Amino acid sequence: MYRAIRIPPEKGEEIREKAIVGKFLDTTRKIRKVQTKKGAFLEIPVTWDAGETIEGFPVIEQEDIEFLKPPQPLKEYLKGSLSETELALVPSGWHVLGDIIIVRIPDELDKKKNLIARALLSMYPKCRSIVRDFGIEGQFRQPKRELLLGSGTETIHKEHGCLFKQDVTKVMYSRGNLEERKRMSRLGKGEVVVDMFAGIGYFSIPMAAHGKPEKIISIEINPESFAYLKENIRLNHVEDIVTPVLGDCSQSAPEGEADRVIMGYVGTTHHYLKPAIKALKKSGGILHYHETVPESLAKTRPEERIKKAAGSLGKKVEVLETRRIKKYSPGVLHVVVDARIFE
Ligand SMILES: C[S@@+](CC[C@H](N)C(=O)[O-])C[C@H]1O[C@@H](n2cnc3c(N)ncnc32)[C@H](O)[C@@H]1O
Repeated sequence: MYRAIRIPPEKGEEIREKAIVGKFLDTTRKIRKVQTKKGAFLEIPVTWDAGETIEGFPVIEQEDIEFLKPPQPLKEYLKGSLSETELALVPSGWHVLGDIIIVRIPDELDKKKNLIARALLSMYPKCRSIVRDFGIEGQFRQPKRELLLGSGTETIHKEHGCLFKQDVTKVMYSRGNLEERKRMSRLGKGEVVVDMFAGIGYFSIPMAAHGKPEKIISIEINPESFAYLKENIRLNHVEDIVTPVLGDCSQSAPEGEADRVIMGYVGTTHHYLKPAIKALKKSGGILHYHETVPESLAKTRPEERIKKAAGSLGKKVEVLETRRIKKYSPGVLHVVVDARIFE
C-alpha cells in the first residue's frame, strides 16, 4: 500500500518542501492532480513513517499509483556486470502489480536473471518481489512465472479505487485491459449482469463498486481464481451485489435473467455465444463480446459470429461499437464488440 497527503493545489509547494525537509517525501512516485466530488486536489506521495496527518491534512492510501521514471534505465544498473551484447537484450519494460515486479527476460540472459532481478529491486525500493514471466497458457489463462527474488508472490493491486488480491504466479492480470476495466465500472446501473469469465473479478468488482448494478452473477471455472474472486468481493465490500459461482459458464449461466452479459475471455469465446444470449432477458439486452482476431477480420468476423449465434436463437443484433482493446500478437487484435440483442 502506498500513502499520500491530499491537499488543496495552492498548498502544493509549501507541503512538498515540508515533506523534503522532514524526509518523508516518497521520491519514487509522481505528485498527482486528482478530481474528487469535493474539487481538485494534489496528492503528495509520502513514506510509511509520515504519521497520520501532516499540517492538518490527512494521510490517505493512494490509488492508481504513478511511479516516476527511475533515475536511470535498467541497463545502466547492469553496466559492468553484463557484456555489450547482453546489455542490448536487457528488458526495457515490466509490470508493477501491487508491490511485485513482473518482467520478461529473454532465454539468452538466463544466467543473468538474478542480477537483473537485483537491479530491478534497487530501482524500486518499495517493491517486495521480482517475478519472471514466461507467458499465459490454457483455458484457465494461468501464467507461467518464476519467483526470482523476494518474499512472496501474493499481492494486493489497487486500481480505480478497487482492490485486487491475487497470487501473480497463479492468476493473470492484463495490463492491456486497463481501459476496459474502467469502462465496465461506468456501466450497469440498476441492471442484472452476468460476468461469464469472471476471473478474480476484473470486471465484476469495478462494476459493482462504481456502476451500482442491482446484481452481478460472476462465473469462474478455475478454483484458484474463484478463491480470489470471493476474497476480492469481501475486500471491496460488494457482497450484496456480486454472487460468485464456481463452474463452467456454458452450464452455470442463468437463462432469461440478464440485462447485460460480459464475455471477457479470448480464444474460443464464440463457443459461449449461445449461453450468453440465452442468459439475456427475453426482451433482450447488451453483450460485451471479446475476441482475438486477425487485424484484417476485426471489423467483420466478431460481428458475424454474434449474428450467427443470435440468428440460430431467433434473435436480432444491433452492433453498437467495436473497440480495439490491445494488440494481442503480431497481426492479431483483441477487440470487444458491444451488441444489443433483441427479438
Ligand atoms: C483471466 S480472465 C480474462 C482477463 C480479464 N478480462 C482481464 O481484464 O485481465 C478469463 C477467465 O475465464 C475463466 N474461464 C475460462 N473458461 C471458462 C468457462 N467455461 N466458464 C467460466 N470461466 C471460464 C478462466 O479461468 C479465467 O480466469
